[in-house]
Amino acid sequence: MKRAITPGTFDPITHGHLDVITRASQLMDEVIVAVAASPGKNPLFSLEERADLARRATAHLPNVSVEPFEGLLVDFARSRDARVLIKGLRAITDFEYEFQMAALNYELGKDIETVFIMSPPQYMYLSSSIVRELASLNSPVDQFVAPFVAKALQEKYAGLRSGC
Ligand code: COA
Repeated sequence: MKRAITPGTFDPITHGHLDVITRASQLMDEVIVAVAASPGKNPLFSLEERADLARRATAHLPNVSVEPFEGLLVDFARSRDARVLIKGLRAITDFEYEFQMAALNYELGKDIETVFIMSPPQYMYLSSSIVRELASLNSPVDQFVAPFVAKALQEKYAGLRSGC
């Protein structure tokens, strides 16, 4: 059984993330989308909200599950008996950062391998922060995220604007 982890903050999950998860699910028997707490990033959505949106976005993929996690990624991977981390590479600018993280994760867990999947051209420029910025400015984000993610963004920013 080949089980992989696709980790991220997913604040929120985009079509770019879904592309990587879908392709990972075609390569592996089982994929766990690991939604990191990432407190240092001060996420817009809570951990449970991010995991819930990721669950809904991947509901059509039978061998994909979603789990929130805190702490070290390699520890989470080991706890799930997964030996492969799959990450998306969008542009050359991702490389240095991803290289550093892959090297650190290798140091922390030599039994765990990082594998990269190249993003297709249409998602090379996409990121959650770009989607958040557009949504915060009331610009449509439907071409970048699932309809329920767009709605959740709209509601979140409406709530923030009204001070809720
Ligand atoms: N398509 C679209 N966007 C993508 C993408 C893709 N394929 N891959 C990454 N992104 C974007 C994200 O949307 C995010 O955008 P933003 O920062 O503009 O909002 C950005 O790339 C970074 O992604 P993120 O999900 O935050 O991942 P990361 O590469 O920074 O790593 C973890 C997050 C969870 C994997 C990492 O922080 C981690 O492992 N944390 C656990 C603690 C730990 O083990 N630390 C040591 C590890 S080195």
